[in-house]
Amino acid sequence: MKFFIDTASIEQIKEARDLGILDGVTTNPSLMAKEGITGTDNIIDHYRKIADIVDGDVSAEVISTDFDGIVEEGERLADIAPNIVVKVPMIKEGVKAISYFTEQGIRTNCTLVFSAGQAILAAKAGATYLSPFVGRIDDISWEGMDLIRQIAEIYAIQGYDTEILAASIRSSKHIVDAAMAGADVVTCPLDAITGLLKHPLTDIGLEKFLADYKKGNS
Ligand code: E4P
Repeated sequence: MKFFIDTASIEQIKEARDLGILDGVTTNPSLMAKEGITGTDNIIDHYRKIADIVDGDVSAEVISTDFDGIVEEGERLADIAPNIVVKVPMIKEGVKAISYFTEQGIRTNCTLVFSAGQAILAAKAGATYLSPFVGRIDDISWEGMDLIRQIAEIYAIQGYDTEILAASIRSSKHIVDAAMAGADVVTCPLDAITGLLKHPLTDIGLEKFLADYKKGNS
């Protein structure tokens, strides 16, 4: 399973990259706004910086909701760097645009996915990545991970190439569950990634090893 970080923070992207486990980055308009990045030129510049920092794929999301607008915006985003993937919402015009981008060889991430039916449509359109939003489904007291399992089964049966990118990940447990559910990629906040490091027995064990070393070498 690939690890993407879900942020527009340069600092956090560098921290995850320096762990040596980072395969890519996802962003969205809310994450860009959170970092205070506004205005088309600044947004494009910021994507360029992110694409320079990581070797892997960087999802850059369109704002337009009509076919022509999505295509124009997506082509501009795709021109920023070879590792930019155009993030397109799961709407009718979005599916049309994903089909168009697929024909043009432009890679896409179909976002805001909440059902297996949407996942089938995105795969048929040739999306490179599919982003089902696990946490937001959990937020309304459904089981987000069930959707990942269902899509993984459908894609395996049908032989679709689209990669399942588990999104809206809120915890380290979500990451482990996504791996079990068959996600190809997980995109997560930095603290969910670093949370995977933690275990009290690791801390206790290390403390003892260091204390014993000190005793033997003092
Ligand atoms: C996906 O690509 C989105 O950027 C993100 O995962 C949404 O997460 P949220 O539901 O925590 O906002």
